[in-house]
Amino acid sequence: MEKIRPLIWNGESLLLLDQRALPQEEIYVHCRSAAEVGESIRGMVVRGAPAIGVAAAFAMVLAARVIAFSPDINDGNTFNWPFFLSKLVETGVMLKNTRPTAVNLSWGVERMLKRAEELTGTAPLEALSQLEELACHIYEDDIAINKRIGEYGSTLLPTPCSILTHCNAGALATAGYGTALGVVRSAFKAGKEIQVFADETRPFLQGSRLTAWELQQEGIPVSLIVDGAAGYLLRSRRINCVIVGADRIAANGDVANKIGTYMLAVLAEKHNIPFYVAAPRSTFDFSLSSGEEIEVEERGGEEVTHLKGVAVAPPGIGAINPSFDITPASLVTAIVTEYGIIHHPDRAAIEHFFASKGGNS
Ligand code: MRU
Repeated sequence: MEKIRPLIWNGESLLLLDQRALPQEEIYVHCRSAAEVGESIRGMVVRGAPAIGVAAAFAMVLAARVIAFSPDINDGNTFNWPFFLSKLVETGVMLKNTRPTAVNLSWGVERMLKRAEELTGTAPLEALSQLEELACHIYEDDIAINKRIGEYGSTLLPTPCSILTHCNAGALATAGYGTALGVVRSAFKAGKEIQVFADETRPFLQGSRLTAWELQQEGIPVSLIVDGAAGYLLRSRRINCVIVGADRIAANGDVANKIGTYMLAVLAEKHNIPFYVAAPRSTFDFSLSSGEEIEVEERGGEEVTHLKGVAVAPPGIGAINPSFDITPASLVTAIVTEYGIIHHPDRAAIEHFFASKGGNS
């Protein structure tokens, strides 16, 4: 079992490690309904693209149970499947609207809806049990996928290796293990001498509160830097590579990730340092031809003007808070997936890569 467990399904409810409270407190928020999971995603109790996809899958299980026992479900003596499916679709829309940028969220919802449709006509209790089984499979599979990403990514790292990372693309951002930090974990386990530099990642501080905490738990050497120190570090050549995760990757390889990622990619190119993205196949959105079509979530300005409720700016000041940015594929050295590594990703390379792996793109 993984040491860090951001999500725990106990068969009746979903427990979410409250990422707003880390690193001071390790407490779980108990979600007993899809609405509570939705609120937890919106409020950043759980965050990170794969983690919110997995949380949404369990939210669909919770919703399915409520709908299946609602007073309106019986049409005469028969289970009203159209009603069941339409209510599940409504829940899916609610969940997808909680955070727009990470495609994994709608991916998780759509997988559950597809299975529900396939189950039409089966005994209701059997259908509910199969939906739960699928959500548990999505959870387990996410960890297995991260481990494969870790193994492939580890081959890219020299030893010793100094790595700069941004935000948190670790166990906390997934079902466990992590994408970018999965690569770090695998390299460390393989005996490589690793030093991580973690951007603090304003305003939510995923780097200082989450990445630093989880690497410290594992005994992986990590030093925290303020976001503005990245250029200095990359220029002084103490860094071998930059590795980040992704929230959505367009068909041409443009990458949406935490705000500040694009700055790092530009700096990495300037200083001739490899810029790697680690992400599962489910983060690719082939319906979008470029990153310009990716919706970037704007969060409230108070996340910028306040830190844990304490004002760090004058009262009444305006602030904008785009939560993600888009890094053009031309700045990405390679994308590490569970199927292998896509070097110099562009539309053709990505299409060819997945076609050769038998995956549909
Ligand atoms: O706003 P967040 O914390 O959900 O943003 C998370 C990121 O940007 C991560 O880098 C991304 O989701 C990849 S996580 C494996």
